[in-house]
Amino acid sequence: MRQSPLVVVANRLPIDDSVAPDGACEWRRSPGGLVSALHPLLRHTPATWVGWAGGTGPAPHLPDVDGVRMHTVPLSADDFRDHYEGFANATLWPLYHDAVEQPEYHRRWWDAYQRVNQRFAEAAAEVAEPDGLVWVQDYHLQLVPGLLRRLRPDLRIGFFLHVPFPPPELFMQLPRRAELLRGMLGADVIGFQRAQAAHNFAQLVAKVLELPATDRQVTVDDRVVRVGAFPVSIDAAEMAALAARPEVADRARRLRQDLGEPEKVILSVDRMDYTKGIEQRLKAYRELLASGDVKVRDTVLIQVAVPSRQRVAQYQILRDRVEHQVGRINGEFGRVGEPAIHYFTQPFDRAELTALYRVADVMAVTPLRDGMNLVAKEYVAARVDDAGALLLSEFAGAAAELEQAYLVNPHDLEGLKRELLAALRATPEDVTTRMRAMREQVRRHDIHAWARSYLTVLDTGGALRDRLVPA
Ligand code: ADP
Ligand code: F6P
Repeated sequence: MRQSPLVVVANRLPIDDSVAPDGACEWRRSPGGLVSALHPLLRHTPATWVGWAGGTGPAPHLPDVDGVRMHTVPLSADDFRDHYEGFANATLWPLYHDAVEQPEYHRRWWDAYQRVNQRFAEAAAEVAEPDGLVWVQDYHLQLVPGLLRRLRPDLRIGFFLHVPFPPPELFMQLPRRAELLRGMLGADVIGFQRAQAAHNFAQLVAKVLELPATDRQVTVDDRVVRVGAFPVSIDAAEMAALAARPEVADRARRLRQDLGEPEKVILSVDRMDYTKGIEQRLKAYRELLASGDVKVRDTVLIQVAVPSRQRVAQYQILRDRVEHQVGRINGEFGRVGEPAIHYFTQPFDRAELTALYRVADVMAVTPLRDGMNLVAKEYVAARVDDAGALLLSEFAGAAAELEQAYLVNPHDLEGLKRELLAALRATPEDVTTRMRAMREQVRRHDIHAWARSYLTVLDTGGALRDRLVPA
């Protein structure tokens, strides 16, 4: 087995098997923010990515992707149901997102979580070079740092949580809370999106494990584990370059024509997830149509909502409700050739998504809770014309950085309507001033800056860090 100096361990590989229209197996970029963040970073580095390739059954052998070696971890049908859909996405996901849906606790799911984490830890142990660096990602794999340290004490181990880390009142619900905290503490560095999450973690470690803990470090078995906030980001330069391509600008112009040259285009792009606040947003939009504050002829809403975790009951219920709402709003307010909402559930390629960002006068990103929300940062980076207003939930991690957005509490329907109208009616000068400041923020705090700040703490020698993200 060939070994690498840097190993990324994440539930998903950056490519995913999906079925092409002709029924053939097709590999394409995996959904979600984790892959969007890490994929551009690792390109052309001598790294191995350990992850699951989607689907169940034996692990397929995959070719390198942009020079990064793919090491596939298989999931059986039981693992998929009990680890991925169960403990990861029906216990931890809702619990970590303010319990906006009720988390479920089942002992069988916990068994699967342990089993799958063990398998990922063994895979990482196999492919990491002696004294190498292993960077474990996200809530699916919280036990991996501890398991890996037992297998390979020579490694430097990092853990980064892409989603929120909840306050003690919520985390304390978890029947196996001590094991989860201990698993994370196997890492040398534990990174969160926001300082509040690091604070929550320190409080829990002190309370549940009775270890000396501050918001910056925890001492465990004579080891010091560093803790901190490292807000994840995007490859802003790549997004700006794509947005500036003439064919993308042309495509944006054509999209506007196809939409009937409306005065204003509002866009939302989400995974179909109950944390994203889609229902609340559509309700606000419906009320604005009903009151006449927004008129179908002048304003168009594009809602992109790619289905996600489709066998989990709460996701099925959400999709049905959203589609019912869209149908109802179009039925009530649409006209022939002029729907009130243009609704898509398809994945788009990067150029098409970027053209959509360029056509949107208002980007509405209003999750009930979100670790970061990279869509907000992508929109900002794509507005090379310094135009476009961002309506952003104060409960998205991105709100801590994008202060010039129109910030909203998505639970407050009146506030949501008010800020959406404010964004729609803003003067071009105001829009430009805000967008310029946000673009500068995303340009300076891009994915390379994120990796550099994390690896400065993890890779104490700095050799790998300098190779991966030159200063
Ligand atoms: P999450 O990680 O919860 O899915 P983020 O907003 O952080 O949320 O990341 C979502 C990522 O998925 C972004 O990079 C976005 O561009 C991408 N994405 C979302 N919807 C689509 C779509 N319809 N087609 C292609 N990419 C999409
Ligand atoms: O951090 C959010 C996250 O769970 C990521 O791990 C992943 O990129 C994304 O959402 C998509 O979710 P899934 O892998 O379940 O399709």
